[in-house]
Amino acid sequence: MKYNFDEVVDRKNNHSAKWNEMDLKFGSNDLWPMWIADMDFKTAPEIIEAMQEKLNQGIFGYVNRPKEYYEVAKNWIKKRHGFELNTEHLTYSPGVVPALSMIIEKFTEPGDKIIIQTPVYYPFFSVVEENNRILILNPLKKGEDGDYTMDYEDLESKMDEKVKLLLLCSPHNPVGRVWKENELRKLGDICFKHNVKVISDEIHSDIVYKPNKHIPFASLGKEFEENTITCFAPTKGFNIAGLYSAFILFPNKEYLETFETELGRIDLKRNNPFSLVATMAAYEKGEEWLEALLAYIESNIDYVIEYIKENLPKVKIKKPEATYLLWLDFSEYGLSKEELGELMVKKGKVAFDHGQWFGNEGGNFQRMNVACPRYMVEEGLKRISKAVGK
Ligand SMILES: Cc1ncc(COP(=O)(O)O)c(C=O)c1O
Repeated sequence: MKYNFDEVVDRKNNHSAKWNEMDLKFGSNDLWPMWIADMDFKTAPEIIEAMQEKLNQGIFGYVNRPKEYYEVAKNWIKKRHGFELNTEHLTYSPGVVPALSMIIEKFTEPGDKIIIQTPVYYPFFSVVEENNRILILNPLKKGEDGDYTMDYEDLESKMDEKVKLLLLCSPHNPVGRVWKENELRKLGDICFKHNVKVISDEIHSDIVYKPNKHIPFASLGKEFEENTITCFAPTKGFNIAGLYSAFILFPNKEYLETFETELGRIDLKRNNPFSLVATMAAYEKGEEWLEALLAYIESNIDYVIEYIKENLPKVKIKKPEATYLLWLDFSEYGLSKEELGELMVKKGKVAFDHGQWFGNEGGNFQRMNVACPRYMVEEGLKRISKAVGK
């Protein structure tokens, strides 16, 4: 095998948030870390090589983004998702979450309403509330088989003239859905009818399992392109989130300039030297590694599903279509959200993101990160068994 995803990399006491920051979230660092969305794999060798070259130069002054920076992103998105974007409308951001916050700040007013589809990545709540906008929840519908779909009737009922934005998570964290074209079109039709713009957070679009296919929301036609702000990033797929790198696609130059002016105002408009070279190397040279990574993670997912079927039949799990995050349903145990969280942490000694963080619908769930060597997955499963009593 060209890449060794079984390699054990010691991240404890090495500035890793996942391994060394559990005390802040869970009250202890003596836990098995399967939470926050980064991977326990080294990134692609091509990325390390590009960063090494920069390191060897020994100069880490301000960097200038070459024109090709946006071209490589454009080519990647065309190749992976068949979407030909306009680089004139594409800009940099030091991360997706900062961009969400700046977009809310610049394109809506205090007191405006913003819709999110719960359960969802928890900073979606905070970016709205901390900017003094009103959070409107449009919970996803959970089917008998654990599959999630959008609730269009509920969405339509929540539309009024104060609603200005909807934050779309596509693919969806934590439920793992890759939204289909008809689902996205229906969502767009409702939003655009009510003059609601969509911010489409597509950070997980590099981690999609066949035969599912990610469809960029803005690619669905003129009306979609004109009413959508899209966030792309190489950081989840290539495990470089600590470098802070994202691309934001605006519908027009005017929006782009508003955003860039804001980035300039707080002087965050430049890449750091490593995010620049790592981002370009990922998109130019990282595809083979990414494909191998997806196969490894998918085998981890299949392993978990099999283990749960055999050993923990009361835990319900649906294979995700995307992301390396498993949304485990413990409702059959009849525990409160506090009891469930405490059981995992205190008895199982394992750190999963608690489902309640993603919204009230998540109270019976734990989110398990399986972007790690298989031995970590095996240990995590043993700890769940210990927690709930096999
Ligand atoms: C949906 C979603 N958006 C954004 C982020 C974080 O993006 P960034 O680190 O670029 O702010 C995450 C990280 O898990 C995520 O799941």
